[in-house]
Amino acid sequence: MTVNDGLHPERCILVTGGAGYIGSHTSLQLLLDGYKVVIMDNLINSCEEAVRRVVDLAGKQGENLLFYKVDLCNKAAVEAVFDLHQFDAVIHFAGLKAVGESCAKPLPYYINNILGTLNLLDVMNTRNCKKFVFSSSATVYGQPESVPVTEESRLYVLNPYGRTKLQVEEMMRDITAADPDWRTIVLRYFNPVGAHPSGRLGEDPQGIPNNLMPFVQQVAVGRRKELTVFGNDYDTKDGTGVRDYIHVQDLATGHSAALHKLFTTPDIGCTAYNLGTGKGTSVLEIVAAFEKAAGLKIPLRIADRRPGDCSVVFTATDKAGKELGWKAQNGIDEMCRDQWKWASNNPNGYRPVQEQPIDLKAVANGNHEAVMSKDIVV
Ligand code: NAD
Ligand code: UFG
Repeated sequence: MTVNDGLHPERCILVTGGAGYIGSHTSLQLLLDGYKVVIMDNLINSCEEAVRRVVDLAGKQGENLLFYKVDLCNKAAVEAVFDLHQFDAVIHFAGLKAVGESCAKPLPYYINNILGTLNLLDVMNTRNCKKFVFSSSATVYGQPESVPVTEESRLYVLNPYGRTKLQVEEMMRDITAADPDWRTIVLRYFNPVGAHPSGRLGEDPQGIPNNLMPFVQQVAVGRRKELTVFGNDYDTKDGTGVRDYIHVQDLATGHSAALHKLFTTPDIGCTAYNLGTGKGTSVLEIVAAFEKAAGLKIPLRIADRRPGDCSVVFTATDKAGKELGWKAQNGIDEMCRDQWKWASNNPNGYRPVQEQPIDLKAVANGNHEAVMSKDIVV
């Protein structure tokens, strides 16, 4: 789904974390919708090759993308980018996201996810840029008391990563309540999977993947021996954990819909939306769908439950459907098809491609085939 309200050809959107998994797909979607996009990313969990591919996939609209290598913890660098551009809205993906790592090393999580966000919000406030979309997570529902989870379900976090998400949400509610000029949307994603249908953009986790689908993908391409299934004694259809997997392309259109909502709803305040499909899929079901898509077997080993995991989580989709006019279009077959296309075309993620030096001279001469990229050093 493309939300094209004819209102935004001149609108410029700052996308923090736009080189990452969800940010790269969303940046492409925004370019195709006709927005100008400026990405700020410190590349701590991504690489510039993803941005180059976004430019490529956007065709002519790729000219409307700029990339700055900036760490949000460096407030002066963030200000320097705001000196160069007038942003109509900000979509904030940048942050660290591994639950286990956040328990082992909480400080980098608080620094990146809280300090980075505070810097961004403060610079936005002083520049009078007051439209903000934030990447939150189903993690803010902890172990839900019942499913489907709605936006009104109890908020309850179980780890430092989750706490950073909830704290940013609370900051957003305070800021918006104090100043009605702010319009903010919290998007709580369920389980993002899949890749761009071209097979050129996808998730490229560093080290051992924490999440199910990147792990399955690495087993499929021979980088890992087998998938460990964490528990087959849950009270679910086949005993394995059930989640609401959502295609990353649907998340990208969800952001487009959220921006449209921000621009058209002066009294939005701070509003949260769950982004999921509303369908629960078990580990064994999604592995079977992946095997079908890839035409190969994924060796499995059943192990104990992973501490902190809940048995079943999926969302109600009514609020996003009614208020954003958005609904996920893809099912698990499409998610697995595109995940496999990405995996088989890029068995080592973005890494095999040599980093090309950015040809800034060519860019200055109007050749936008090179991504315009700058390190902001302050
Ligand atoms: P990702 O790691 O692929 O992307 C995050 C990007 O932010 C990376 O490119 C990274 O280099 C950048 N970044 C991190 N810290 C930064 C900083 N201080 N300054 C500038 N850039 C920085 O992750 P993703 O899966 O695309 O997730 C995007 C957002 O969505 C994150 O906030 C994440 O917490 C949230 N989220 C993700 C999931 C998921 O399962 N993927 C689920 C729910 C919520
Ligand atoms: N699983 C396995 N083996 C693995 C990895 C996962 O069996 O190697 C199982 C888990 O036990 C769970 C399911 O696959 O039943 C999904 O696990 P993920 O780690 O992919 O996803 P989670 O639902 O545990 O959590 C993810 C993010 C959270 C976020 C949540 C909702 O890690 O940060 O999705 O967005 F909050």
